This record gives sequence, C-alpha cells and structure tokens, in this order.
Amino acid sequence: MAFQRIAILSIGEMGYHWARILTSRGVEVLTYAKDRSETTRKRAETIGVKCLPSMNRLVRDADLIVSIVVPFAAKRVASKVAKATAKLGRKDLLYLDANAISPMTADEIAKTLTAIGVNFVDGCIIGSAAKMDKGAVVYVSGPQAARMQELDSYGLSVKVLGPKVSQASAFKVVYAGLTKGLQGLFVELFMGAKNFGLLDEILQRYEESFPGLLEKVTSSIVALRIHAGRRAEEMDELKRTFNHYGMDAFMAPAVKKVLQSIAALEIGKASETGARDGDLLGTVELFFQKGLLQNSSNARATSASPSVG
Ligand SMILES: NC(=O)c1ccc[n+]([C@@H]2O[C@H](COP(=O)([O-])OP(=O)(O)OC[C@H]3O[C@@H](n4cnc5c(N)ncnc54)[C@H](OP(=O)(O)O)[C@@H]3O)[C@@H](O)[C@H]2O)c1
Repeated sequence: MAFQRIAILSIGEMGYHWARILTSRGVEVLTYAKDRSETTRKRAETIGVKCLPSMNRLVRDADLIVSIVVPFAAKRVASKVAKATAKLGRKDLLYLDANAISPMTADEIAKTLTAIGVNFVDGCIIGSAAKMDKGAVVYVSGPQAARMQELDSYGLSVKVLGPKVSQASAFKVVYAGLTKGLQGLFVELFMGAKNFGLLDEILQRYEESFPGLLEKVTSSIVALRIHAGRRAEEMDELKRTFNHYGMDAFMAPAVKKVLQSIAALEIGKASETGARDGDLLGTVELFFQKGLLQNSSNARATSASPSVG
C-alpha cells in the first residue's frame, strides 16, 4: 500500500466519510484535533481515527495529508502544516487540498507548501459526503496529481484533470456555475410563468423538451429558501476567478442577482424541519407570494394572458 497512514484535517462531515472508507480498507487514519470542537473530536473517536498530540507528530507520521475543512480555513491549515514540515525538515510529504477554494487560493497554498518541499495536489469533491463511495468523485490536478489515483484502491473515486495546480479548484467553480445557474434561470422563468398563469403548462413543456432536467435541480431549488445567500456569493467567486484569469463573466452576476433577491425575501426559517422540506410548486408559490422579481407596482396587473409571440 502506498499510503499506510493518511492524515485528515479535519474530521468534519466530509472527513468522517473519508475516514469511514479508508479505515474499512485497512488504512490508518490520523488527525490532530486539539483545537477542534467536541463534535469533531467525537466524530474522530467514533470512526476509529487516531488523534495525535501535535501537528509535528502528524506531519512526521503521515504518508499523505488531506485538508478537508471549511473553505476559509484552508490557508490556515496549510500554513500550520508548512510550519511543522519546515521544523522537521521533511521533504517527501504529499498534501491534498480537497476544499472548495478558488484557484487563486489554491495557487497561494501551493506556493507556501512547495517552497518548503511539500508535494502539493489541488483537489475538489463533487458529490455529497455520504456518497463518497457511491458515485462522488475527487478531482485532482497538478504535477503530483497522478499519485492520488492510489486512493481508488481504497474505495474513493479519483480523476486527474491536468498537470496544473488550480485546475481542480477551477473545475469546481465552473461546475458550481452550472448548478447555480440552472437554479437561478429556472426560478426567474417560473416567476414569469406564474405571472402569466402558465406555470403548469411550462412545467409540462420543459419536461417534454428536456426530460429529467428539472427533476435534477428540484431539491436544490427548494433549498434556495435557506441557501440562496451563500450560493449568490459563489457566483461572485466565479466572476472573480474569470476576471483574475483575464476573462469576462456576464452570466454569473445575473444569476447572483436572482439568488440575492431570493435571499432578500428572508424566508430562510419558513421551514421548521429543514431546507429541503417542501416541494417545487410550494416553493415557487412562496417566492411568488413574497413578490420575488416583481419590481413594479403594476407587475401583477399584467398577469392575465399577455400577447407574447
Ligand atoms: N459535506 C459535503 O457533502 C461536501 C460535499 C462536497 C464538498 N465538500 C467540501 O468539503 C469541505 C468540508 O466540508 P464539511 O461538510 O465536512 O464541513 P464541516 O462538516 O463543517 O467540517 C469542517 C471541519 O473542519 C474543521 N475546521 C474548521 N476550521 C478549522 C481549522 N482552522 N483547522 C482545522 N480544522 C478546521 C471543523 O472543525 P470544528 O468542528 O472544530 O469547527 C470541522 O471538523 C469543504 O471545503 C466543502 O466545500 C463537502
């Protein structure tokens, strides 16, 4: 086995499922959780992860370190690993950042780590934590990315995207653009269809023309009641990324506006039992009743059959 000891920082929801899969294949999973919450420490204990007493020990013992934290902590975790690596003078360490970070942040982390001899691999995960061994994929990139394919033999699914650091993070940004873009576009068009009294008819026509498409994004449209604000920020990230690499992004700001308008309705707490409670029609009705995208006092006055060509 190439990786006998894999360190995961940290054992959050995603880290837990990585640990579950890896330990079941005989890999020893390590972590350092001294500064972490009770929940994270308990999760590690439950799934049989070995908690080491210091970051130095973790860096000394691991064949591979995987960073799966909240995105804003990705740089901090990399700096701590860099500090410990420099102190120990270790030169062969492999580090995978699997966080949903921007390609610019991935580049920064790569610089910090490669400067002290760590082999950095950029990564992103598409799919939910519980599905890590049932269809979710870890996409990786960078000069050392092929080494991650070893994880396939431990029950994870890995795909190499290319030789450049930051390609994997860019992949996630572009992927998110489609999912959020579809949500924004559908919602905007549904508000129009509601206004024209044509919602049922357009739903039927969309299904006939694009079978299964709406069904794929239905639960994420329902979840917009809770997550629209955060998803709007992701559209900012997409725009920033394109701009950074010398490109314009015209769709992302438009999608952001739709998502921000949903967030401004402040209906996040409408459901007592969770974001995905409810169905598509109920969600569309709620958005419409709250006045989503109805920007003038006479918007409703046009609700009778318009003369559209
Ligand atoms: N969950 C999913 O289905 C899913 C799907 C695709 C991608 N991802 C990606 O996977 C990553 C992790 O997501 P998650 O759902 O596992 O999040 P999560 O459940 O919130 O877990 C985050 C973990 O990171 C720890 N953490 C926070 N700040 C840290 C720091 N400064 N140093 C070390 N550890 C720190 C947290 O510890 P505390 O408990 O102490 O805060 C927690 O254990 C994200 O980048 C996310 O985009 C997740």
